[in-house]
Formats: sequence, structure tokens, C-alpha cells
Amino acid sequence: MKKIAIVGGDGIGPEVVREAKALLVELQEKEGLAVELWELDLGADRFLRDGTTFPKEIQTAVRKECAAVLLGALGDPRVPSNDHARDILFGMRFGYDLYANIRPVRALADRLVPLKNRTAKDVDFVVFRENTEGIYVNVGGQFKRGTEDEVGLNTDLNTRKGVERIVRAAFEFAKATGRTRVTMADKSNAMKFAHELWVRVFQEVLREYPGIEGEHVYVDALCLYLVQDPSRFQVIVTNNLFGDIVTDLGAALQGGLGMAGSANLHPADPGRVALFEPVHGSAPPLVGKDLANPFAALLTTGTMLEHLGFAGYEARIERAVTAALDRGTCTKDVGGGVGTRAASAFVREHVLGRL
Ligand code: NAD
Ligand code: IPM
Ligand code: MN
Repeated sequence: MKKIAIVGGDGIGPEVVREAKALLVELQEKEGLAVELWELDLGADRFLRDGTTFPKEIQTAVRKECAAVLLGALGDPRVPSNDHARDILFGMRFGYDLYANIRPVRALADRLVPLKNRTAKDVDFVVFRENTEGIYVNVGGQFKRGTEDEVGLNTDLNTRKGVERIVRAAFEFAKATGRTRVTMADKSNAMKFAHELWVRVFQEVLREYPGIEGEHVYVDALCLYLVQDPSRFQVIVTNNLFGDIVTDLGAALQGGLGMAGSANLHPADPGRVALFEPVHGSAPPLVGKDLANPFAALLTTGTMLEHLGFAGYEARIERAVTAALDRGTCTKDVGGGVGTRAASAFVREHVLGRL
């Protein structure tokens, strides 16, 4: 039995996670899927109600008891500081040391690819985003705040261990899946200290993988190439901030944020609790309108089940989503004519073989 913590979070998070949960419950009931679901009341509502963000006891209980966390999104206009979101999201990513944020970029239908003369076969790569350091560590501070001399500082922290383990994870993934090229993106031409470390570590690790070609690009050029010809990429490894930015660009290539899923793992310890979440945020303008695309959350749920050892579900969910896209039973952002609930219901029926 695998225990899964479920956090809807904010905005459209609860709307898409509700659909993922409905699918899990059906699989539990109809196929005996051995999962136990534990819904956690965390997010902006809770924070505004009683000040709770991510209590230590919950963080520990999840680490000890759960195999996975399924998270919707965090971020709410009523909490402009975003403090609760950072506590929860980074409390999991950093707190469980989930150093690999793995974000596949794959288009499931030709029409989802927004580039001229490109089809789904041209968009198929995986981004390995470093997930525990970089400029995200919030080492820094403010000085003379509110005066005309004020200073704001965030330090880009990169450790040998941190860089090496994400680069290695990218190469190991390429090797295990028969991919032949790994591209590392940095900004070492400008950020001399931290990113020279990336260049050196990348070259060292590359030498251990003789069958795999290593390519180095600056991240600005990477953005250019991704739009000009995404088909040249197989695996991209980069730091926390660049990985965040590049995967929104990647999401655009696969039909938008409603199609992009992700896994946050500690690959060196596959038994550790892992975090699964769509790449998208809480999309405030869509809330409560049955407009949110649930497919990113559903595809992420498939990835989670695969990771937990429930073989076959990922492919079944992906086939169902592809079928929904093909017949237009999908939300408006991906060219369909139905809402969140109807699109998800179709996927459930398809997965359960009732269509
Ligand atoms: P966003 O991802 O919420 O939205 C960006 C764009 O994509 C919007 O046009 C939105 O309508 C669209 N979109 C996103 N998800 C969609 C879906 N499922 N279906 C259809 N369209 C979808 O990013 P944002 O607007 O920059 O941020 C809103 C809030 O979400 C902020 O508070 C931000 O910090 C937070 N955020 C959280 C996460 C996370 O929890 N992992 C990720 C990104 C942003
Ligand atoms: C993401 C989000 C987060 C990030 C925000 C909400 C802190 O954009 O998961 O992509 O930057 O990692
Ligand atoms: Mn992001």
C-alpha cells in the first residue's frame, strides 16, 4: 500500500487535483489500486485562516509515511508575499532534498505545437532542472529597505555536489532511455564563478558516458534554438532558475501550461517521498469557471503511479488524454469545447475502459 498526500493548494490547484483524485479513487475501487489518499489542508485559505504554512509535524509525517505528494499549485493574490507558497513548495523540494525536477516536454497532438511547419514529433525532450539550490535558496537580504539607498540581494548558490548530482541524473536518464545527447545550459559567459563550475562538472561527468554526446549552450541561445528547432533537443540539464523559465517555454511548445507535468525526485534514493505537480501555477483568472485544463495534473498522476511501481497506468492515462485531445473533449486552451469536469470525466472513462 502506497500512501499519497494530496495538496490541492490555491487557485485552480484544487480544481485539477480534485480530478486527479477522482481518477485515483476509481482505480482504487474498480481495480484495487493499492493507494491510500491523505488530503492535506494547506495553502492560502489555511494560511489566511490560522497562519499555518507547512508545519514541521506534517513535513515529518509526509516524509515518514508517504511515498508521494500530489500537489496542485500554490500562489494567491490575497497573499502577495507568497510566503505560504515558498514554505510549502520549498519545504518539500528542499526539505526532502528532491534535487531533480524532471519536466518532460512532449506534444501529444500536432495541433498543439505552435511553431510553423512543426508537428508533435519535433517536440520530445526532458528538462532536468536543479531543484535544491541556485538563486532559489533565498540567501541574501535587504538593506536600507524603503530608503533611496536600499539594496536587495539574492545569492546564486551552486555546490559541487549539487551540480554534479543533477548533471549525473540527466546522463543516467539519457543512458537508461536510449537518448544520445545531453545539453547543458548556463550563463557562464557572464556568471563567471558559479557557472564555470557547471561547465567543468558537465565536462567531467560527460567523460563517464562515452555513448552520449554532450552539448553546451548559453541559456539565451537555448531559448532561441527551442523556438527555431526543438527537435534537436533530447535532454536538457540546467540550474533552478533557468530550468523554471525554460520549462514554461517548453510548455508553450507542447500546447500550454495545461499540458505540462513534472516530478520532483531524489534519484539516488528512489524510495524517498517524491513530489508530483503540474508545471502550471494557480492561474487566478480561471478559478471557479470550469476552465482549467486538468490534463497536466492527470498526466502527472500517471507519472506518479509509474514511479510508485504501478506499471501501465502512465501509458493508459496518456492514451486517454491523447484520445480526448483527438476528439476535442478537452478545454478551450487546447482547442476543445468542454470544461475541466467533462474533459476529466472522459479521461476517467477511457482509462477505466468504459468507452
Ligand atoms: P500560471 O501558470 O498560473 O498561469 C500562466 C498562464 O497559463 C495563464 O495565462 C493561465 O491562464 C495559463 N494556465 C495555467 N495553468 C493552466 C491550466 N491548467 N489550464 C489552462 N490554462 C492554464 O502562472 P502565473 O500567472 O505566473 O502565476 C499565478 C500564480 O501561481 C502566482 O502566485 C505564481 O507564483 C503561482 N505559481 C505556482 C506554481 C506552483 O505551485 N508550482 C507554478 C507557477 C506559478
Ligand atoms: C514552478 C513555479 C515555482 C518555481 C514558483 C511558484 C516558486 O514557478 O514550479 O515552476 O519557481 O519553482
Ligand atoms: Mn515556474
